[in-house]
Amino acid sequence: MKGTSKCNFDKKGNDVMKTQIEPFKIKSVEAIPITTKEERIRYLKEAFLNPFYLRSEHITIDLLTDSGTTAMSASQWGNIMQGDEAYAGSKSYYKFEEVVKKITGFKHIIPTHQGRAAERILFSILGGNGKIIPNNTHFDTTRGNIEYSGAVAVDLPTKAGIDPSTVEDFKGNMDIDALQRLIEEVGSERIPLCIITVTNNSGGGQPVSMQNIRETKELLSNYGIPLFLDCCRFAENAYFIKKREKGYQNKSILEIAQEMFSYADGATMSAKKDGMSNTGGFLATNDDSLAEKARVNLIITEGFPTYGGLARRDLEALAVGFEEALDEKYLEYRIGQVAYLGDLLIKAGVPILVPTGGHAVYLNAKLFAPHILPEHFPGQSIACDIYLEGGIRSCEIGSVMFGKKTPDGRHIPPPMELVRMAIPRRVYTKSHIEYVAESVIKVFNRRNELKGMKIIYEAPLLRHFTAKFDYIK
Ligand code: F0G
Repeated sequence: MKGTSKCNFDKKGNDVMKTQIEPFKIKSVEAIPITTKEERIRYLKEAFLNPFYLRSEHITIDLLTDSGTTAMSASQWGNIMQGDEAYAGSKSYYKFEEVVKKITGFKHIIPTHQGRAAERILFSILGGNGKIIPNNTHFDTTRGNIEYSGAVAVDLPTKAGIDPSTVEDFKGNMDIDALQRLIEEVGSERIPLCIITVTNNSGGGQPVSMQNIRETKELLSNYGIPLFLDCCRFAENAYFIKKREKGYQNKSILEIAQEMFSYADGATMSAKKDGMSNTGGFLATNDDSLAEKARVNLIITEGFPTYGGLARRDLEALAVGFEEALDEKYLEYRIGQVAYLGDLLIKAGVPILVPTGGHAVYLNAKLFAPHILPEHFPGQSIACDIYLEGGIRSCEIGSVMFGKKTPDGRHIPPPMELVRMAIPRRVYTKSHIEYVAESVIKVFNRRNELKGMKIIYEAPLLRHFTAKFDYIK
């Protein structure tokens, strides 16, 4: 698929419009800052060469994340006025619960202010010393919450999932053989749950097939281990299944999502992604005893079970947002926009992780800047130069984010060195995407000038957010 949404006037596909359009018109606009190169050099220096420190008023196109950055629809804004701000038993909660139950089928829907709150609650109950929790690939907050509980987080991606150049339909899949080996090795009693992240964010926004979810569940059932979905991008995953997996072409996105959830015993969700809203999340489960413990924890730390730390108007926005995320025309545009950016870069020879995934284009920093060693952070250097070139903010996902150290201080790099350009939902137009491609291509064409970096300050945990850098002279 190329470009954004297609207007098909002929169902046989003979006479389609060539121009690809965004399937919405714009009711409200927000000016974006345009800066000069001199200003950007100063801003980046003031940000210690870490885009997380940049002020958004100095950024022209912000591709740091697709999380909470969605443009809400007129219908969502309209419903926000309907928010019933009751502390307990709010009407807005029941609207939210109804939609989430329709999609997921889970018995207990526990709202949280965002995804990591659901993770914290879940792992404070099921985690702990001696426990092991596998996932196709843990997102960093998921890993953080598991490790904070004392448990060990294990990533089990497939071989293709950690090779940016291998083209496969479902590179987000769980390595089921490796999962079985892990269970046999450590014993099922040490594994309180297994997680599948859809789509696999840290592995390139790559989808997981229905077959893989089903077969993972079958294996886990033999050992009595529950399966949870980390389902932030469930609608994007369902769209890939519809397009790529045999037997799903004539199913609706809702039906596919329902089947995905039918294999799971519970889920955590950051609704800041496919909830199409600026905040929110939930923990869902079919287990009454787990739900009871989770609600107690929720009341102590987040809020009453009918709002979980959210304003009730946010639940209204989510109730509408979940429905909008299931719209196939929207998803065609969404996935198509990501693919369009990927195609523009590939045509210019820029190495990216292929095929493009659901929410972001990931530059392959190892091939982009092969002269910079992983311990000198090629991805960080590229992200900085992309900001200097076009005022575009992206995010390193490589040695800065996931690098470890041996006891004697030597750098252990992660399998991939990537720069993620995550595309906010319904925010940027085709010309913005072309501007991004042009800027990245300019940096690529002068890639030999990119310099290695060193860290001059780092926090003990999740260092990428606050690390400070300098260039190696
Ligand atoms: N799980 C996945 C797969 C995620 O991508 C995220 C967030 C979370 C959990 C945590 O959710 O932010 O609502 O607490 N991902 C964002 C990102 C931050 O930029 O990819 P949260």
